[in-house]
Amino acid sequence: MKNINKKSQDKNGGLEGVIAGETKISYIDGAKGKLFYRGYSIEDIASNCSFEETSYLLIYGKLPNKTELESFSAKLKRNRELSKHTIKMIHTFTKKMSSMEALRTVVSSLSSNDKDSRISSYEEKLNTGLSIIAKMPTIVAYHHRIKNSKMPIHPNPKLSHAENFLYMLTGKFQDIDDAEILDKDFVLHAEHGFNASSFSVRVTVSTLSDVHSAYTTGIGTLKGPLHGGAATEVLSMLKKINKPENVTPFVNKILLSHGRIMGYGHRIYKTYDPRAKILKKMAERLSIKNNDTKFIQIGGKLEKIMAEKKNIYPNVDFYSAIVYHNLRLSNELYSPIFAMARSSGWLAHILEQYQNNRLIRPLEKYNGALNLKFVEISKRT
Ligand SMILES: CC(C)(COP(=O)(O)OP(=O)(O)OC[C@H]1O[C@@H](n2cnc3c(N)ncnc32)[C@H](O)[C@@H]1OP(=O)(O)O)[C@@H](O)C(=O)NCCC(=O)NCCS
Repeated sequence: MKNINKKSQDKNGGLEGVIAGETKISYIDGAKGKLFYRGYSIEDIASNCSFEETSYLLIYGKLPNKTELESFSAKLKRNRELSKHTIKMIHTFTKKMSSMEALRTVVSSLSSNDKDSRISSYEEKLNTGLSIIAKMPTIVAYHHRIKNSKMPIHPNPKLSHAENFLYMLTGKFQDIDDAEILDKDFVLHAEHGFNASSFSVRVTVSTLSDVHSAYTTGIGTLKGPLHGGAATEVLSMLKKINKPENVTPFVNKILLSHGRIMGYGHRIYKTYDPRAKILKKMAERLSIKNNDTKFIQIGGKLEKIMAEKKNIYPNVDFYSAIVYHNLRLSNELYSPIFAMARSSGWLAHILEQYQNNRLIRPLEKYNGALNLKFVEISKRT
């Protein structure tokens, strides 16, 4: 059987170090561990802005004034409901379908209600994107409840994006601290330059394909365990490690077999991921509140060993897994939460690409055979 996880030996593999285009959306300084959204540091944004305000900043390129933010938040609230047809479709999914698969499928199908075509204006594309951002939490919450044989709960227009998601999952108004933490988690995951999913979204748009196709591509790309699927794997790993004393033998075993410690390492950050620093504080706060600090203790030990042995640090997914665990969110929802958060960054990239577009089509270096002689099917072994 062919191994599909084998690391590429191609020195250009993974486009490392390649500048694939220009952007004004975010800036990452991987050596210093800095991240800026539209020029503002992530620390500033995470301590001062809600997800709605951050999304406005990413999409429109400036911080909103009070009226602009109110009208933007109201627009998202107005777009949260799913059509009867969409809800019916979710009911047809088998129990085997994961949340990410359901999200990818439903977002793609939204184009049947919400037409977006090649000739749509900038405003129409923007509105389509906002409608998708608004609906993603509803899709995830509806699917999660239906899959677990529960009645879906309608979105509540009095609640913010994060509060409403938690409400639709449980039917209860949440502890405000929990909703605020989820809101900050959305802010921290909203944008990150030409990461794999945002780049894939740009590739789709560069063919002048539509906004629904771009989101579908983005969700499919984010789903992989090397990108948005990592947090889910982090929790399984923490459960497997189980206690701080097991960290050293666990890491030694993984490294010996050239395996990966999930939630560690990053293509761009060669130091501590600034988002992980903020998430770590949130994870600690929640763990102490819940009197459940085991994973935080394991995390502390992992950090030390990984820094000593590999000079590799936690990325955004490591501490977000501990945050989600403490918010009592099902493991299956970790990647869809990342997708919901990244949905505003994707829209910023979609619009930036449409505004300054050229088909993305890099060169490849062919390293296969040439001039082979054709063999009749009956003569092939
Ligand atoms: C994110 C990631 C895919 C980046 O990969 P990349 O830039 O292609 O880095 P490479 O795969 O070339 O790894 C470079 C070196 O670091 C090591 N490394 C990177 N991440 C590692 C990890 N999580 N655990 C153990 N070793 C790791 C590799 O083994 C390699 O070591 P080597 O040079 O001795 O062979 C990678 O760090 C990873 O797989 N992390 C785990 C998954 C994850 O958390 N993803 C979420 C990212 S936000």
